[in-house]
Amino acid sequence: MEGDRVLLEVKEKYFPPKELVEGANVKDYEKLYAESIRDREGFWDKVAKELHWFKEWDKVLEWNYPHAKWFVGGKTNITYNCLDRQIELGRKNKIAYIYLDERDRERKITYGELLELVCKIANALKELGVKKGDRVSIYMPNSIEAVACMLACARIGAIHSVVFAGFSEGALRMRIEDAKAKVLITATYTLRRGKKIDLLSVAKKATQGLDFVERIVVWDRDREGVKGEKLIDLYSLIERQKPHCEVEVMDSEDPLFILYTSGTTGKPKGVLHTVGGYMVNTYYTSKVVFDLKENDLYFCTADIGWITGHSYIVYGILANGTSSLIVEGAPNYPDVGRWWRYIQRYRVSILYTAPTAIRMFMRHGSEFLKEYDLSSLRILGTVGEPINPEAWLWYYKYVGGQRCVIVDTWWQTETGSHMITTIPSYPMKPGKAGKPFFGIEAKVVDKDGKEVPPNTVGFLVIKSPWPSMLRTCWGEPQRYEKYWNTIKGYYFTGDLASYDEEGYFMILGRSDDVLNVAGHRIGTMEVESAVVENERVAECAVIGKPDPVKGQRIKAFVILKEGVKPSKEVEESIKQTVREVLGPIAVPDEIEFVEKLPKTRSGKIMRRILRAKELGLELGDTSTLED
Ligand code: WTA
Repeated sequence: MEGDRVLLEVKEKYFPPKELVEGANVKDYEKLYAESIRDREGFWDKVAKELHWFKEWDKVLEWNYPHAKWFVGGKTNITYNCLDRQIELGRKNKIAYIYLDERDRERKITYGELLELVCKIANALKELGVKKGDRVSIYMPNSIEAVACMLACARIGAIHSVVFAGFSEGALRMRIEDAKAKVLITATYTLRRGKKIDLLSVAKKATQGLDFVERIVVWDRDREGVKGEKLIDLYSLIERQKPHCEVEVMDSEDPLFILYTSGTTGKPKGVLHTVGGYMVNTYYTSKVVFDLKENDLYFCTADIGWITGHSYIVYGILANGTSSLIVEGAPNYPDVGRWWRYIQRYRVSILYTAPTAIRMFMRHGSEFLKEYDLSSLRILGTVGEPINPEAWLWYYKYVGGQRCVIVDTWWQTETGSHMITTIPSYPMKPGKAGKPFFGIEAKVVDKDGKEVPPNTVGFLVIKSPWPSMLRTCWGEPQRYEKYWNTIKGYYFTGDLASYDEEGYFMILGRSDDVLNVAGHRIGTMEVESAVVENERVAECAVIGKPDPVKGQRIKAFVILKEGVKPSKEVEESIKQTVREVLGPIAVPDEIEFVEKLPKTRSGKIMRRILRAKELGLELGDTSTLED
């Protein structure tokens, strides 16, 4: 490993192989980008025409700052494009997904079979009384079943709200309650690191007393038999359903799904995406950024519980008729060879993963990779957090054998699809995400909205609307507006960035109280509210600290209630509380018991001061500090 380091010399620029450029879906970035900005509507109009619409739009864009409507008056259904149309194009017997669990049990499903499964679930949901506009929460393992449930909702116009199966009772309950879900779909368990994680018990507890939840549909994985109030078995429910279900004709601006994501308050926001724009934008970014071709096998290691899973395991990928691998469980269980074995066995050509996973593998050196034939790989993607040049180079050299391109895709739950990246035919710079995608105008500005000079840190903002932008925050329109009125005239991303003389963007991390732990977005206030649920805690403040593998780790400063003495036991019980309320991903790595927390005179905790002290940085402006 030490030896490897010496070999890793970072050049400023890396060029894609000639064959890849010649065969790329988009060959001339500069030209097309200029065109897409000159005539944004014309550009998206042309892209949208590559998909099926029952009725074409009257107008591409209606922009009423800060509200956008895309493909106004257009009628379509995203599942028609993801499934029916693929069959019309001759892909009925083409593999849609190869699913694998940690024990290497494999299940394959073709586009034709997936359509039937989706139709049966859609019919079952209808039988349960689910109608267009109703919300359905999905709390399931990464699996074909989960994907099919999402598509079944979309087929009948129900709005899905997928909740990551690594979240616990409190997080699940909050999301079900906020969306007022009529039905919850779950599974008996998920398998991770050889352990069964009981999802059904969590689902039952999370819905206790919620009368609006009429049914809990359960994927009973081992046919144990599910019994209980509101419970109904998924497979016996669909057994009796017809394998055809007409699509609901959806307006372009009808809601498609809600996905909750952390913000700067204790309550996650329900980001709402709509059918038409999201469909067009995820379809096109998938096609261009992953350079999808008929014979590709694509492997996205994300979970359907996050936006990456929504856009780039499900919708954008299926809309291109691509075959994918979908896996349940951990990347390094039963051993670090798991993913690489799959790449060799199935001849994966595109891998899309996160820097935290790359850094985890890096710790094992590079020798272990030599056991696998990774020569089928062509494109390597990364997402979720900034990738440090060292990890970038390791990925490029040892995984990609210096033949592959890396696409470092910057985007957010709110943006729906890729916003900044280099496309495969364009030169890459390690550690820099790259250039704005077609139709996207990204800028780096100061707090007054003034553009900063090159190589200067500022706020990353987006100037104009794009098709897959969020339309609102569910039930909280004022939170939506905040994106557009924090810095007047721009969409505020919450990220810090800089750009260089050639216009490459470098993303430096969040500027707000949002943490990024192993690529998972977690709000400091969410963790703080979970910590104070422990009966021995009086107050808490949470900060992120740099971590060599996870990007950030969580540190909590805790004031205990009168009479409670700090101890290992108290610390463990606090961690347990967070695990139960939010889930394992939000558990603080470190807890420090303190007597006092730095606050402003109005009583707001100054996490900035805690962070500066912890990391030995300048304290900055302390004039608002209480004492
Ligand atoms: C961060 C994930 C640097 C960023 C798709 C953003 C990144 C947040 C990158 C969104 C990247 C995502 N380089 N940072 N390539 N991609 N981020 O909503 O801070 O879970 O604001 O969406 O992740 O996280 P979210």
